[in-house]
Amino acid sequence: THQWRGVVEEYRDLLDIPADTPAVTLREGGTPLVHSEWLSGLTGATVHLKVEGNNPTGSFKDRGMTAAISVAKAGGAEAVVCASTGNTSASMAAYAAKAGLKPLVLVPEGKIAAGKMAQAIVHGAQVIMVRGNFDDCLAMARGLAAEYPVALVNSVNPVRLEGQKTAAFEIVDFLGDAPDYHLLPVGNAGNISAYWLGYTQYAELGLASRRPVMRGFQAAGAAPLVTGEPFPDPETKATAIRIGNPASWHLAEQAAKESEGRFASVTDEQILAAQRELASRDGVFVEPASAAGIAGMLQELAHGDTYAGSTVVVTVTGHGLKDTATALEGVGALVDTVVDADVTAAAAAAGLA
Ligand code: F0G
Repeated sequence: THQWRGVVEEYRDLLDIPADTPAVTLREGGTPLVHSEWLSGLTGATVHLKVEGNNPTGSFKDRGMTAAISVAKAGGAEAVVCASTGNTSASMAAYAAKAGLKPLVLVPEGKIAAGKMAQAIVHGAQVIMVRGNFDDCLAMARGLAAEYPVALVNSVNPVRLEGQKTAAFEIVDFLGDAPDYHLLPVGNAGNISAYWLGYTQYAELGLASRRPVMRGFQAAGAAPLVTGEPFPDPETKATAIRIGNPASWHLAEQAAKESEGRFASVTDEQILAAQRELASRDGVFVEPASAAGIAGMLQELAHGDTYAGSTVVVTVTGHGLKDTATALEGVGALVDTVVDADVTAAAAAAGLA
């Protein structure tokens, strides 16, 4: 019997990385497609969730990071750098630890979920907090990599997208063809670009008969792909996608255009409501940003759009345990029922008596 080997070994022949690059892997990928009874019932479609929180560090970033760190290590790098809203840094720190590389992380001060910060620190990263936003951090990471001996592993490094496109391969491998629609959150726009690469490659190889319509969802306070203008001061509780000037802007626009898809924005209120509904109805707990695709689908239904009869995949990008503080905002009354150690008291509090 074999265990899943991680995305570099499982799809090596389909990835544009130097041949025979040894894989630095934590056995990422191979994540479940979970059927959503809730969303299928609402839409009359077959809706699957691609649950990327099941990756080793709890987000889809591990797919690109195994590729980027493998290539950096094989190329002789000794240190790696990234800018991050949290998940990329958590992932980079873990894979750098595995590879014996020194991880350097630039994050916007005060805007990183506690779980992600803990991951970067415990995996041994040097974490530098920047008085600025993600876009400032990315400019600095590029500058550091240009002037000092550190390898940049943000998704402007094309090897990251090579790893991330494997999520599209897995979906087609499981469904037997590409879905009709693919919905996902968009921040720096690497992921939607990577999915499009993957779907396109499978279609060109004849492994899929079609490519899905791509629909990307941004937070209303950080929605440059919707308005067509950078956001100098992006703001959202979904801190993972608090990005005003996405690096893969052009690739993402191309994916939307070629697929006859589009971008739309959802408010923080919609995002947090979708997060809670997904957790309580489908049993899948995702971080706020990861619920943007779900919120987007609900918004479209409310506007009268239909998915009836089609196959839909919604990527939920990261695990809910990364940011419990935001998840619990607004549900305080439900979590502070305290009683004496007594059955009757518990029954009364639970409304059973
Ligand atoms: N969802 C989560 C949980 C993320 O962490 C990110 C991006 C996205 C969605 C958006 O993906 O940037 O490829 O469009 N997080 C990056 C980070 C920016 O630094 O962890 P994207």
